Amino acid sequence: MKLADNKATLSFSNGSPSVDLPVYQGSIGPDVIDIRKLYAQTGMFTYDPGFLSTAATQSAITYIDGDKGELLYRGYPIEQLATQCDYLDTCYLLLNGELPNETQRTDFHKLVTNHTMVNEQMQFFLRGFRRDAHPMAVLTGLVGALSAFYHDSTDINNPQHREIAAIRLIAKMPTLVAMAYKYGMGQPYMYPQNNLSYAGNFLRMMFGTPCEEYKVNPVLERALDRIFILHADHEQNASTSTVRLCGSSGTNPFAAIAAGVACLWGPAHGGANEAALNMLHDIQAQGGVEKIGEFIKQVKDKNSGVKLMGFGHRVYKNYDPRAKLMQETCNEVLAELGLEKDPLFKLAKELEKIALEDDYFVQRKLYPNVDFYSGIVQRAIGIPVNLFTGIFALARTVGWIAQLNEMIGDPEYKIGRPRQLFTGSERRDVPALDKR
Ligand code: CMC
Repeated sequence: MKLADNKATLSFSNGSPSVDLPVYQGSIGPDVIDIRKLYAQTGMFTYDPGFLSTAATQSAITYIDGDKGELLYRGYPIEQLATQCDYLDTCYLLLNGELPNETQRTDFHKLVTNHTMVNEQMQFFLRGFRRDAHPMAVLTGLVGALSAFYHDSTDINNPQHREIAAIRLIAKMPTLVAMAYKYGMGQPYMYPQNNLSYAGNFLRMMFGTPCEEYKVNPVLERALDRIFILHADHEQNASTSTVRLCGSSGTNPFAAIAAGVACLWGPAHGGANEAALNMLHDIQAQGGVEKIGEFIKQVKDKNSGVKLMGFGHRVYKNYDPRAKLMQETCNEVLAELGLEKDPLFKLAKELEKIALEDDYFVQRKLYPNVDFYSGIVQRAIGIPVNLFTGIFALARTVGWIAQLNEMIGDPEYKIGRPRQLFTGSERRDVPALDKR
């Protein structure tokens, strides 16, 4: 980051002396006011719950222009990556800063492939869960448990440990997600098959059985790979910030990523694709397209607590570029599977059209986000609704690791320790029991 020519001056109406604060410029996007010395200079904190105006870090990985609806990984537009690269190329890019050349690509694919199996003991660990446990509960446990299995990659301050932990996590996530699914189904786990692509291997581990050969459908393989690319990173979102904060204590990478999985589970974040599909099911059950008007009315009523899931975003105040790509994939997958007339897809399109024309959504700049269509694609592929967030976690793992490693490598990094505005009781004495 570069020091800007201008400074910010903070003045106070009570006559306290004003303070000058340095301003830094990034390569693109808003400048930041450096408030690190503010407390020392004024005895005051800043107040920004929800981080509405606070840059918690500098980062060179992902850039979002929310007004334009632009998403760049290491400078490359998501539209180009989604159409010209595969997920593992994207992983390499996010981790290393550049796209791989041919040799690097081959080596990286081989490296990830070599780590797809998980310790055999892992399946016994899995057995401790109820069969009907939510896959995100299982995944949080499994990812955290990796630190108990791979002791040679738990030192976050050792670059080699960080590198091997990164590869292990990227390679093993599909295996773990598929194991969580198979366990819930009561079916045998499928070992990874390393001559398949990353997405193809995942499809086989999910839907193959030992009884017959599984043939990967290239359209579904491409669709899944695209889902992975679109979810690979999204700068300082809640789960990524969780991973950074968790990792800032020096904990091991597996534990930090498990924290990210737990955060992602929430319906305002990764759980939204599940919530969006459930919402479509509910509207469909109540009468489908004819009921959209009534549903939108409920959404606009602040007392109803109903939200249009898959709409709105903290950063995008325009169409989420990932939603456009996902809609395209949705068309391809439904056509491939002969589901063009899928009533939920029709409902989603109609709902989107109506919402985009409605004043409530227009005024608040609420547009479809990636989750609006990803649930329909995943459902068509055969992925159960409660596994959607698990797929998101699988794909986002690389972003979490890239961000974690960037933080550890940053000379300015410190343990994350937010401050507070205390509004509780002042000091008081404990009364005797009979006086309370
Ligand atoms: N339906 C109805 N109203 C909404 C919605 C929605 N989906 N999203 C925002 N609003 C309203 C909100 O009530 C508020 O209205 P008002 O100004 O009258 O109080 C206004 O729009 C601004 O919303 P906000 O809650 O201040 O926005 P936020 O930045 O805090 O929340 C969000 C962002 C994603 C949590 C929210 O839009 C939401 O809950 N959307 C539905 C869930 C969803 O689809 N989440 C997936 C996000 S994309 C995947 C990811 O990156 O994790």
